[in-house]
Amino acid sequence: MPRDTVCSSMVHINILRRIMYGLLAFLLFLTICLWNESKKGYSVSFRLDSKGFQLPRNLENLSRRMGSKPVNITTMTDPQRESRVPQTGTKVEKLNYKVWDKDSNSKNLPARLQKVRKNYLHMNKYNVTFEGTRQLEKLSASALLCQLANRVKVTMIQGTDFPFNTSEWENYLPPKNIRESFGRLSTCAVVSSAGSLKASYLGEEIDNHDAVLRFNGAPTKKYEQHVGEKTTFRLVNSQLITTDKNFLGDSLYKNGILIMWDPSPYHSEIPEWYKKPDYNFFQNYKQYRKLNPNQPFYILNPKMPWELWDILQENSPEDIQPNPPSSGMIDA
Ligand SMILES: *[C@@H]1O[C@H](CO)[C@@H](O)[C@H](O)[C@H]1NC(C)=O
Ligand SMILES: *[C@@H]1O[C@H](CO)[C@@H](O)[C@H](O)[C@H]1NC(C)=O
Ligand SMILES: *[C@@H]1O[C@H](CO)[C@@H](O)[C@H](O)[C@H]1NC(C)=O
Ligand SMILES: *[C@@H]1O[C@H](CO)[C@@H](O)[C@H](O)[C@H]1NC(C)=O
Ligand SMILES: *[C@@H]1O[C@H](CO)[C@@H](O)[C@H](O)[C@H]1NC(C)=O
Repeated sequence: MPRDTVCSSMVHINILRRIMYGLLAFLLFLTICLWNESKKGYSVSFRLDSKGFQLPRNLENLSRRMGSKPVNITTMTDPQRESRVPQTGTKVEKLNYKVWDKDSNSKNLPARLQKVRKNYLHMNKYNVTFEGTRQLEKLSASALLCQLANRVKVTMIQGTDFPFNTSEWENYLPPKNIRESFGRLSTCAVVSSAGSLKASYLGEEIDNHDAVLRFNGAPTKKYEQHVGEKTTFRLVNSQLITTDKNFLGDSLYKNGILIMWDPSPYHSEIPEWYKKPDYNFFQNYKQYRKLNPNQPFYILNPKMPWELWDILQENSPEDIQPNPPSSGMIDA
């Protein structure tokens, strides 16, 4: 063998050995990281669950695109709620990951959130069997809005809907159709829940809208300057009604029209959902109605969130979480 060939072979072997060592170290590191991440993954999954139907960020952006152009919606956030929620991990994500944009996909998520996403898809708690077709090209905002208007029926449970037509439910549901409960509205401020509103000074602007919609326990007291004080609608989830000890007594809920929602199995009919609601809110709902008979308090038809979900899924290249969109999304 000529000398220079031997030499170059040795160099090759040396480089190879270094690469191997490097690779081994990398694998070891990866193993530790993954083990660490898998420990975290579950706790995050449950935390998200207990907050109630959080939305992946990409959907939030989609909702903004769908909702905010043709209709003048101001999306704002509740200062107190978020500050109560543990913030573990978010700081790191914000520092290390690029801002989500319309071309982002789940691969851009930190490993931990990718795992959370997989868990959710795998759980399929509501037995989703999506049979629609994926929209391959992005629809324009107005086309999406048309779909929303035509296909998402925002209706409330009525006294004629079985089993709400039985004597057990007599006089509990509001007698008036929800559209008769408020006048004509042309502008609406949607004030959702996050700490960023705390220094926004948007209170006056919010209150200047015809209607102001708030979510769950989002407070106004002490934050009027930033979130306003008017409440026309408050969308509450069944978890809050069922588990929040303050729900019946808290003056926070006594203003405006209340609308509650509870996730049903995918496209199930009302009777099926009624037998197995996500949260057994019926007793507390009835009690609230007895205590506040003059405040309109509606139950959203559980089919509506899934009609919305279908449109979201059709317009998403990836599988979205198989649970009903969160409160913020329902409203948008
Ligand atoms: C594992 O996670 C803990 C906190 O959960 C962190 O302090 C530690 O640096 C992580 N270790 C590795 C190797 O990522
Ligand atoms: C929405 O806002 C635009 C620009 O600010 C305005 O021209 C339009 O009239 C508004 N539409 C409604 C329904 O208020
Ligand atoms: C949402 O999408 C728009 C464009 O569609 C983009 O400019 C914006 O940065 C996105 N927002 C977030 C929070 O990702
Ligand atoms: C989903 O389907 C499984 C199997 O058919 C059933 O046991 C489960 O109760 C269903 N879940 C819901 C929320 O209906
Ligand atoms: C309630 O609705 C069901 C289904 O529409 C109907 O069969 C039943 O007779 C109704 N019950 C009463 C008390 O009206």
